[in-house]
Amino acid sequence: MALITYLTRIQFDFGALKLLDAELQLLGMRRPLVITDKGVIAAGIWDKVKASLPGNMPVTVYDGTPENPTEPAMRDALALYMSEGCDGIIAIGGGSPMDLAKAVGLMATHPGDSLQPYAMVEGGTAKITPKVAPIVAIPTTSGTGSEVSRGGVIIMDSGRKLAIGSPNLIPRLALVDPELTLGLPPHLTAGTGMDAIAHCMETFMAPSVNPPAEAIALDGLDKAWRHLERAVRTGGDREARWNLAMAAMEGAMCFQKGLGAVHALSHPSGALKGLRLHHGTLNAVYMPAVIRYNAPAVGDKIARMAQVIGLPEREATAEGLADAVAAMNERIGIPAGLKAMGVPESAFLTVAEGALGDHCHLTTPRQPTKAEYIGLMEASYGA
Ligand SMILES: [Fe+2]
Repeated sequence: MALITYLTRIQFDFGALKLLDAELQLLGMRRPLVITDKGVIAAGIWDKVKASLPGNMPVTVYDGTPENPTEPAMRDALALYMSEGCDGIIAIGGGSPMDLAKAVGLMATHPGDSLQPYAMVEGGTAKITPKVAPIVAIPTTSGTGSEVSRGGVIIMDSGRKLAIGSPNLIPRLALVDPELTLGLPPHLTAGTGMDAIAHCMETFMAPSVNPPAEAIALDGLDKAWRHLERAVRTGGDREARWNLAMAAMEGAMCFQKGLGAVHALSHPSGALKGLRLHHGTLNAVYMPAVIRYNAPAVGDKIARMAQVIGLPEREATAEGLADAVAAMNERIGIPAGLKAMGVPESAFLTVAEGALGDHCHLTTPRQPTKAEYIGLMEASYGA
């Protein structure tokens, strides 16, 4: 059985920001809560968005989104939403503000004060109704694709980093203006770009039936692979930024098909206290080991991905593809492994247990055991 859903309204191109006013009118959103973070404010991006809003529109701003959004941050933003009588959310930023916006939009309209019962692994998807507050998502990075995805990942009060997911959480509008990504620094361009590549590769390898998602995944992989290095090297390369923004969006449009062990590992790794590890960078580090691990279970998909990224036929193997990802990581300045990122070996067991309980563990082509997850971390540790 195949469940295939494509729903999002998307305005995409340089200059798309100019459409914000008209789009808000279409949605009937009159008192938005802006959810963003201090980096977006400091980069002057909020000022650009504000200039595209009607001058007399009452706007409340929450800029306290943490690097990995949490339930307490959700409650802070929710309190503003309620006290200011907001009727919708404009999320501006990378995955964190967009994911936080989904959590706020959910809790503003659904019972309870805890998010965890709505988590996918708790069977929460069925509880999320169309009442979710309308969200306009304006990405400032090219990686997460949260602007078109049905999910968000939040660190719960329990300490677990869990996903909420439902078609009802998909933003009513994704407003993607690559102009907003031109100033993204190289290390964030690299990390977020590898998140987009991980989405395309993991989705393509996931075993569920969704040929349209696979076609989108390969196109996203092609675009991201050909343009990531250019954007890292020259942030103002408009063609590279356009293609990366499209690849990121495609990655998230298609990952409804399911992700896998890379994300199952990076979610609990990102929840490790005191480390504040970047999601996409973690994915980049885990990907080579997972490609090798998945190989026996994915038929010709390794060879097809190798062909898309332009590897010669003799390198169209799991080894060849994993090496190509590792070489890309090195060229764009991704840390050499978990060790270089500061992950202690003592955290491996916690992360492996988290991976087993992650929703992405359920959609991976080959399900690792706890020992195998630890083995994947060892293989990703680096010298
Ligand atoms: Fe991701």
